[in-house]
Amino acid sequence: MVRVSSPGKVILFGEHAVVYGHPAVAVAVKARTEVDVYPASDEGQTTVNGELIDGYRHKHLLLAHELLSKGSPMRFRIRSRVPSTMGLGSSSALTIASAGGILALDGDVDPEKLAQFAFEIEYKAGGKASPLDTSTSIAGGAVALLPESESGFLWQIEKDGIRWCAHSCPVPSASLVIGYTGNKSRTHELVGKVGKLAKAHGFVAEIFKDIGRIALVGLRALQQGDMNEVGVQMNRNHELLSMVGVSNNDLDRLVEAAKPHSYGAKLTGKGGGGSMIALTDEPELVAEAIRREGGKPMEFDWDTQGFEIVRTEG
Ligand code: MEV
Repeated sequence: MVRVSSPGKVILFGEHAVVYGHPAVAVAVKARTEVDVYPASDEGQTTVNGELIDGYRHKHLLLAHELLSKGSPMRFRIRSRVPSTMGLGSSSALTIASAGGILALDGDVDPEKLAQFAFEIEYKAGGKASPLDTSTSIAGGAVALLPESESGFLWQIEKDGIRWCAHSCPVPSASLVIGYTGNKSRTHELVGKVGKLAKAHGFVAEIFKDIGRIALVGLRALQQGDMNEVGVQMNRNHELLSMVGVSNNDLDRLVEAAKPHSYGAKLTGKGGGGSMIALTDEPELVAEAIRREGGKPMEFDWDTQGFEIVRTEG
């Protein structure tokens, strides 16, 4: 048996645009998914928390099992502290923990290999995607995806002529407050809609380029420890995401409420519901402002630990 764990994430800069190869930055948060993987006897069946694995409820896990288990049945036990449908990377954390757990049955796990497999799984599960969430869940801390490699390089992933080079970068020197709108959003539907918009309207592709430029300026500010500039770029990033239609009134309200006490605030992840984030030195004031506007504030620490083999037995 192996026990592995991996973190969820928030996106500081570049969601949606990163799917088309533009720069982006995400940071792991201390909300983790833990998976125990047991090899079952050959006649046994593959189960998840005691129930037969099923392609609807356990889509990512089933894909990971099909891709990596060489047909051997396995038993999985999942415990997740990453809230789902909030834009905090719950499906990536599960993909990493389950694919990583299967690989860990054979010994040490090569993070680059895991990154390749995990991206393939995410892609098969829902179509167009970037390796931002999965790379962050593997590496932990802050991860930047860039079209070219530079210092801090971790690995690169290519698909459909797009290349993403993953890099490790500094974690923000400010507290994180997440504001949940109370509405779910569906990543793949939204990524698909935005993709159609980008094809039909040149201006969306132009906005994605602007988002990429903002992400790069934000990354440099992060590297210099300039939190004021990081915040300015987050605010701009939110405005551009609103222009492509992935924000909504609830997200805009929470972002505006958080701003007076924050370096910056923006929606995080897919949008269309889900959550916003604020970077701040006054987390209580931000949480209170979010609550006043009907949102649910949550405080998470940054997590510098990525994918981890917690225990091996037998
Ligand atoms: C979702 O967390 C982030 C998106 O950019 C999709 C992706 O990168 O795969 C919307």
